[in-house]
Amino acid sequence: MRKKIVAGNWKMNNDLVATNTLISELIKKEKTTNAEVMIAPAFVNLLEASKLLKYSSIIVAAQNMHFAENGAYTGEISAAMLKSIGVNTVILGHSERREYFSEDDNLLKQKIDKALDEHMKIIFCFGEKWEDRSVDNHFIVVENQIKNALFHLENENWESIVLAYEPVWAIGTGQTASPEQAQEMHAFIRNLVKKHYNSTISEEVSILYGGSVKPENAKEIFGKNDVDGGLIGGAALNADNFMAIVNAF
Ligand code: PGA
Repeated sequence: MRKKIVAGNWKMNNDLVATNTLISELIKKEKTTNAEVMIAPAFVNLLEASKLLKYSSIIVAAQNMHFAENGAYTGEISAAMLKSIGVNTVILGHSERREYFSEDDNLLKQKIDKALDEHMKIIFCFGEKWEDRSVDNHFIVVENQIKNALFHLENENWESIVLAYEPVWAIGTGQTASPEQAQEMHAFIRNLVKKHYNSTISEEVSILYGGSVKPENAKEIFGKNDVDGGLIGGAALNADNFMAIVNAF
């Protein structure tokens, strides 16, 4: 059975004090659920988060990383650095990285390869813009993003991959894809993986939905067959809201 996952992407929010407070609240509200729970604080707070969550089942993930081993890349963070503080999961390809930091499929492919070399788990994000969907190009855009970054992988690499469909027009806008739109795309993605690999891999890979997931809509979205959880932005910054989403399973 494939894993259910709810991951909170904190983006550029929460200083050290706020990180401490939010994690303490999450620990208090933590209970056994069907879903694997992850949070992705800012780089500077990952060590603190790792320490605070040492005895918790909540997993700490990074929001990004560089593809190189080490070297002259001012301002960047390597996989080895993340691993050295107990962070073994990384979000790659978020639309904000693509949009504001010009991360393209080719760069993401290099990051994916490095993360896999380092035995890290990857949440790989992709999704169309409204201008793509409005002209019915959303399937082709998503297909290309997945193909370009992932279809060179070996079968066994897929154990380390979680997919996250995040329509850009739904991120931080309050405008969620309908559960039907999410299901339609998730089924398309699963079929794509099946065609290129096989049904064992396509049935095992978790596909998360991201884009304005809230306690009010999580149950309906997560209720769809091919939706295996969510990547949560805004609503992950409040412990009650985030745990309500986790408990939607
Ligand atoms: P949102 O962000 O929940 O605030 O829409 C989702 C994301 O960017 O992962």
